[in-house]
Amino acid sequence: MPDQSEFSHPFSPTDGERQRVQAGDLAMIFTSDYKRFVARIHPEGVTHTHLGAFRHADLIGATWGSTVKSQIGYDALVLQPSLTDIMKSLKRSTQIIYPKDAAYIVHRLSLRAGSRVVEAGTGSGGLTTALAWAVAPSGMVFTHEAREDIYQVARENLARVGLSPFVKMFLCDIEEGFRAEDADAVFLDVREPWRYLAHVRRALRPGGFFASLLPTANQVIELLRAFDEHHFADVSVEELILRSYKPTPERFRPDDNLIGHTGYLVFARCIDLGEDMARWRQPERQRYEARLQTQAELEAEARRRAAEVAAGGKKYPKLPLPG
Ligand SMILES: C[S@@+](CC[C@H](N)C(=O)[O-])C[C@H]1O[C@@H](n2cnc3c(N)ncnc32)[C@H](O)[C@@H]1O
Repeated sequence: MPDQSEFSHPFSPTDGERQRVQAGDLAMIFTSDYKRFVARIHPEGVTHTHLGAFRHADLIGATWGSTVKSQIGYDALVLQPSLTDIMKSLKRSTQIIYPKDAAYIVHRLSLRAGSRVVEAGTGSGGLTTALAWAVAPSGMVFTHEAREDIYQVARENLARVGLSPFVKMFLCDIEEGFRAEDADAVFLDVREPWRYLAHVRRALRPGGFFASLLPTANQVIELLRAFDEHHFADVSVEELILRSYKPTPERFRPDDNLIGHTGYLVFARCIDLGEDMARWRQPERQRYEARLQTQAELEAEARRRAAEVAAGGKKYPKLPLPG
């Protein structure tokens, strides 16, 4: 039986932490108007909210899920933050990947404790947080960011939530390549991911996973066109629409506001350079290409016959052009 302590996730509470708030815990103050404040508990710490300041000394020893009071007498619940709460609490210097997309990316890249995953750009560290959460405690995220101001915000965010030990951060432009190799997966959230596919190949282990999030269809088409040249197969493009509901038993119905579009998710696998890409395109694309070829052959034959008829040759029945 393996030593379980070696495999425990950094956010798995110990027996003591499971019951009560302790110094060093990541905690969330949850107010009755559903505002959330995530903070690392420190004996001298204070979390300021619109309902007054909450002294951490008053929180230490409280049972998780119980009421605590601000200095001006407002109640709040003290809870352990979820990964979604943590991601939403990050300071933002860029748009972050939504938790719904991050969760699915982790699943589709098949990440687990021990995985090695390469990422660019880091941005505010939103996705980095979800990746690190998935690969900890024995894996590593190698994340790349070109802008120093953005890189610094992400560094502070990751340190604040305690995930820095599972992330190696690089301040660099991926135009020069990635600073990691033998990765199980590479994820790109940059404007022109198709420009970096040669670098992605070099960073990935054979057969590794690739994904990218793109806000516009034009970008998706550019990326799809580049996959053949760089030998990526098993391609899919997906979009997640999340619908929330008003959890009111007497009047249960969808929320009034729906986030229509966050981004297209593109997934692919890196295959051997010796493979003939024509064999490994999606069946839909193979069928379309076969149809185009048949159409071109029939049109050529129709032209040849028309020329023969015009020259006084024999008459032909109509050719069946594909529909
Ligand atoms: C939309 S943000 C990423 C947000 C991030 N996924 C998150 O969830 O917080 C895109 C980031 O990519 C960075 N970036 C763009 N091109 C880059 C490149 N060639 N090399 C490194 N970083 C790049 C930008 O500076 C920006 O911070």
